[in-house]
Amino acid sequence: MKRVLSGIQPSGDLHLGNYFGMMSRMIKYQEENELFCFIVNYHALTTIQDKEKLATNTLNAAIDFMALGLDPDKSTFWVQGDVPQVCESTWLLSNIVNVGLLDRATSYKNKLARGMKANVGLYSYPILMASDILLFGGEIVPVGKDQKQHLEMTRDMAIRFNQKFGEVFIVPEADIENTTQLVPGIDGQKMSKSYGNTIPIFGSEKTIRKRFMSIVTDSTDIDLPKDTDSALFHLYSLFLDEKGQKELAERFATIGMRYGDVKQELFDCFWMQFLPFREKRDYLCNHKDHVLQKLKEGADKASAVADTYLTNAREAVGLHYGDANV
Ligand code: ADP
Ligand code: TRP
Repeated sequence: MKRVLSGIQPSGDLHLGNYFGMMSRMIKYQEENELFCFIVNYHALTTIQDKEKLATNTLNAAIDFMALGLDPDKSTFWVQGDVPQVCESTWLLSNIVNVGLLDRATSYKNKLARGMKANVGLYSYPILMASDILLFGGEIVPVGKDQKQHLEMTRDMAIRFNQKFGEVFIVPEADIENTTQLVPGIDGQKMSKSYGNTIPIFGSEKTIRKRFMSIVTDSTDIDLPKDTDSALFHLYSLFLDEKGQKELAERFATIGMRYGDVKQELFDCFWMQFLPFREKRDYLCNHKDHVLQKLKEGADKASAVADTYLTNAREAVGLHYGDANV
């Protein structure tokens, strides 16, 4: 049994990219592995600096995950900020990371390119992420393709730390599905909270239907076959098995197909698939105390694991000075 671990930022409404790229895989893993899953509110602080918003998003993300099937009785599920030991291990790791490594982080560079202010938190984000993984002994880390480099950095930090100070941390493996391309947003770019192109998992029927109807399509004439390398085709494929995908490709190749009809159908498909989760979500929103209690239990379990790794790391670097020769 492997320890599978991953986190998600509460930086906005969770969307289909998050679901297919990470959440659904995590939920599957919980059946046969030891799952550690958390909401990374310290990470979100690098971009959200609004007290109400951060708190609301954090609780919403936890409720969304539980509604989608994450079972806190089977897994260890917590909010990152409830186990502040990760900040201390971030500091320990910071001292073995070269600035050049952080300079090369594409996620950071992309954020700067989009005009985000470069605070130190954003810059050192990959070290906090490494800390999240190493402090809990994560072995397998399911993430979307965009996190691949962060995982490589984490491995690099674990190896360096172990070489310098002795074997303290497990070197984790990224789990990125080969077949899963990044889920496209309604504009055809990577679906991302920060690009304003998402289809949220939860939200009002009207709003979500509107998002589906706004998926960009080309202006190919109705009498011509349609391109399957499109956001509409890729999004619909996520809801279909292999046979269904083949049939969809045939429809795209057949003249007379109307994009509007396909979008409507895709919405119906989405709505039916997520309906039971929606009901569960309403239930959890009305039982907030239960959610908070489960998060507290999760934080207690995670904290115990963190303490063991942190004690070993502190000892390894020389912070335990009581037995020093003087
Ligand atoms: P966002 O880009 O919307 O802020 P996050 O960075 O919080 O999303 O990502 C949370 C998880 O969801 C990560 O594991 C990430 O790789 C995955 N993910 C995010 N967007 C996509 C996407 N468009 N396709 C596949 N996976 C994604
Ligand atoms: N950086 C990840 C993202 O934006 C979130 C994250 C933080 C994470 N800590 C983690 C993912 C540890 C996996 C493991 O999606």
